Amino acid sequence: MKSQPFDLDRIRSSGLVREVEFHAEIDSTNDRATEQARLPQLDCPYLVLAARQSAGRGRGSNRWWSAPGALTFSLVLDARQSGLPPERWPQIALAAGGAVCEAIEQSIPDAAVGLKWPNDVYLAGKKACGILVEAPAGGTGRLLVGIGVNVDNSLASAPPELTQIATSMIDVAGRPFDLTDVLLAILARFGDWRSHLVNNERGLFERWRTRCLLTGKRVCLNTGSRQVTGLCRGIDDAGLLVLSTPDGTERYLSGTIVSFE
Ligand code: BTN
Repeated sequence: MKSQPFDLDRIRSSGLVREVEFHAEIDSTNDRATEQARLPQLDCPYLVLAARQSAGRGRGSNRWWSAPGALTFSLVLDARQSGLPPERWPQIALAAGGAVCEAIEQSIPDAAVGLKWPNDVYLAGKKACGILVEAPAGGTGRLLVGIGVNVDNSLASAPPELTQIATSMIDVAGRPFDLTDVLLAILARFGDWRSHLVNNERGLFERWRTRCLLTGKRVCLNTGSRQVTGLCRGIDDAGLLVLSTPDGTERYLSGTIVSFE
C-alpha cells in the first residue's frame, strides 16, 4: 500500500472543501481537527486526511482500526455560520451516514447499504463505516465530523474481534477502490445533505428514514444511564430514534444500540 494513496490536487481542485491537510501517519484526524478548529481564521469546510492513524478513536472509549487502505478523515465545519443550531447537530451524523451510504452505492451499485442509527453505516450486514461527531470545547460553533470507512483494508488482516462484526468495500466487491474517488463521492454527497439540512427540507428526513436498518426491529438501546428495549418505529424528522416500549412511544436523541433483531 502506498504511503500517499490520495490525489491531493484533485481533492483541492474539487471545490468540495476549502483546505486540505494530509498526513501519511497521524494519531487521530479528529484530534488534529480539534486543534485546527480552535483557529478563528480557519476556512471551513477544512479537511484533515490521513493515510494511516496510529490511535484512531471510536465512540466512547473505543479504538478505530485504521489499517492501510482505510479511508480516515475529519472535516471541520462551521455549524454556526451555516445557521445550524446546536439542537440540530445530531442530524449532522445522520447526514454524514446518508452521504457514505450513497457514495458506497455509487461504487458498488448492488450493495445492501443502510444506516444503523445514530452513526454507523452497514454494508452486507456488517459495519463498514463509523462516524464520530464532536463539538470542541469553548462553544466556537465549529463541529468535527470524523469518518472512517473500510475501503481497501480487508478484514482478513483485522483483529479477530472485528471479523464477525465488520466488513470493507474490498471484501464485499472483491476488488480494490480508488480512495480519492470514494472520498470525493462522500464529500459531494455530504455537501448535498448539508445544504438540505440547512434549508430544513423534508425530503432529507425521508432519505434517512428509508435507510434506517432498525425500523421494524426489536432494539436494545443503552442511553448512557439505562437500557431500553422496544420496537423501532424509525427515525423522526429531528433525527431522533422512535421506540415503542411498554411505557409508550419514546424518542431518543443519542445512545448506543446494544442489539437489534
Ligand atoms: C465509531 O464507530 O465508533 C466511530 C468511529 C470514527 C472513526 C473515525 S476515523 C477518522 C476520525 N478520526 C478518529 O480518530 N476517529 C474518526
